[in-house]
Amino acid sequence: MTRHPHTRTTRRRVVGALAAGLLCTAGLAAPAVAAPAQAPVSPALADGQALTPPMGFNNWNSTNCRAEFNESMVEGIADIFVNKGLKAAGYQYVNLDDCWALPSRDADGKLVPDPVRFPHGIKAVADYVHSKGLKLGIYTSAGTKTCNDAGFPGGLGHEYSDAQQFADWGVDYLKYDNCNNQGVDAKLRYNTMRDALKATGRPIVFSICEWGENKPWEWAADVGHLWRTTGDISDNWGSMLSILKQNLPLAPYAGPGHWNDPDMLEVGNGGMTDTEYRSHFSMWSIMAAPLLIGSDLRTATAATFDILDNKEVIAVDQDPLGKQGTVVSSEGGRWVVAKEMKDGSRTVALFNESGSAQRIATTAAAVGLPNAHAYTLRDLWQHKSYNTAGAISATVPAHGTVLVRVSADRHALKNPPAVELGLDSAPLVQAATPAPLTTTVTDLGRTTAERVSVTLTGPAGWKVRAKSSTTAKAVRTGKSLRTKWTVTAPSGTPTGSYDLTLKASYRSPTGARVTNSLPFTASVVVAPPSGTSYLGDLPWMSTANGYGPVERNTSNGESAAGDGHPITLGGVVYARGLGVHAESDVEYYTGKSCEKVTADVGVDDEKGANGTVAFEIWADGTKVASTGVLTNAMPAQPVTADVTGAQVVRLVVTDGGDGIDSDHADWADAQLTC
Ligand code: GLA
Repeated sequence: MTRHPHTRTTRRRVVGALAAGLLCTAGLAAPAVAAPAQAPVSPALADGQALTPPMGFNNWNSTNCRAEFNESMVEGIADIFVNKGLKAAGYQYVNLDDCWALPSRDADGKLVPDPVRFPHGIKAVADYVHSKGLKLGIYTSAGTKTCNDAGFPGGLGHEYSDAQQFADWGVDYLKYDNCNNQGVDAKLRYNTMRDALKATGRPIVFSICEWGENKPWEWAADVGHLWRTTGDISDNWGSMLSILKQNLPLAPYAGPGHWNDPDMLEVGNGGMTDTEYRSHFSMWSIMAAPLLIGSDLRTATAATFDILDNKEVIAVDQDPLGKQGTVVSSEGGRWVVAKEMKDGSRTVALFNESGSAQRIATTAAAVGLPNAHAYTLRDLWQHKSYNTAGAISATVPAHGTVLVRVSADRHALKNPPAVELGLDSAPLVQAATPAPLTTTVTDLGRTTAERVSVTLTGPAGWKVRAKSSTTAKAVRTGKSLRTKWTVTAPSGTPTGSYDLTLKASYRSPTGARVTNSLPFTASVVVAPPSGTSYLGDLPWMSTANGYGPVERNTSNGESAAGDGHPITLGGVVYARGLGVHAESDVEYYTGKSCEKVTADVGVDDEKGANGTVAFEIWADGTKVASTGVLTNAMPAQPVTADVTGAQVVRLVVTDGGDGIDSDHADWADAQLTC
């Protein structure tokens, strides 16, 4: 995995080398930390701050160190918080990240705000932000310098003076980073700043940013109010997903005043679709993560505001019980995550990690709700309430999340029954050839869905024909209206994904008319060639990749298409194959006419000793080959998979269970026989 230009990997290596250097001379130098004469013994924080996860803004994800990070931006964000209702929705902290200071301290050792970015100083910005009823956050590093290559001063050895300066300016929140830490023990560095902040007497939320390197969840509950659990997020699906998967298992460590921090939001920065951003926001909220907006709200779209301002989702994040949601199940990328809420209800996320629509299902009992005749199920993105007899299920679009809040409720039946819209499978269509599709409308409610009707619409020029009934007088609890259709794409339609919409309309016994829709995609495919072909040369149906695009016949270069190197495994160079980066999933249409996939797989030599991955081959829903975890030290491993009868073959690479760092994986010489 690679990050923004001044890569963390490089920085970490430097820090590691310094640490090793310090060890060699151990005993000679005392750690460069200015501890007070009488070091207090780890007092529990319990200072009444951050009783719910902090909400606000931080400029880093949108501006990095660029010049547009300045006083007018920061004050503009404060204005927008007030004017666009985000303050009312709970956003409070306006936080400055790296690059606000000059590279050198003044003659008294004080930090100096950059006079170009902050011509009136930080106190003036704090006063402005406070005048709006908001709070100001600032940033420095628990090292000699901050993370930016320009080398702004860090807090190590200056904790008490810097903390006092922040307090004098009126700062309410400190993000304390980890760069240039000189190998000094993390607990010591973060404890010292905690004590220094406390000594100022000003309440200041303390955000520990050591990227999860020293498992802060195990020791920092009485040090900071929140701690980063992972490396930096970047504005793409793979990064968000990887961080999500690292943060989910840490649920037991979160609670009021001490939160896991999977990093700031990317919502609105342009690298993901709105569906993906809704998933990002839903999952951060169900994880009780800090909600720090990371996009420049001065240019944000209406869709971005709709996501960030969804008060029902924010209420999940801010629930006073302070539980982080836990994983109920996660098979096949179909995630069910449930969060216990203060009022006894459960918020449930049905999160689809995969690249095609999937049915994701659980029950009221499985998410911990008591037995009841009926439950109220509130859809937090649709803002509608239904009743369910206990099923909580939906067909969730690729990379989408259905987020519902479910409660055992005596008055549940005043709501219409929930119905689930479903497909037998995502349609695979060859141009000019009718493809069959079966849709279902299933009543999940305790009450009956009456006068049910469905419609299916495709892209302009497509023919959609119902082959069986599209209406039903009544659909009872657990029963479905099944409709058979054929879908035909015009001849010459290029391969790719096309949007269709299934719509259902029904009447509730309470009289209300309800309409629901399921957007999904059909793939236009071409039949695979007969004989043996190199997969690096065949058209694929879809790809997902942890970093940059999947490469044909080269390794994964991490950013743009075509930036890879010759595929090399254990010193052997291969002219053909696929170069991917965990987590990766490449789908090929095989149309039930192929037999075999073969490849030599492994971690590409370009990452030296780093990288651990596992390879899997799937024939439709069945795993037909897997390697187990492979490291860079291992030679290429031959794999062969029998894919007879499969419609779709998937080549999957997972991260081997340890995050995606350096996971450059090659499907060398990959071939398909049809
Ligand atoms: C580190 C942190 C980021 C950001 C940058 C600033 O990478 O993890 O969140 O603060 O430093 O340089």
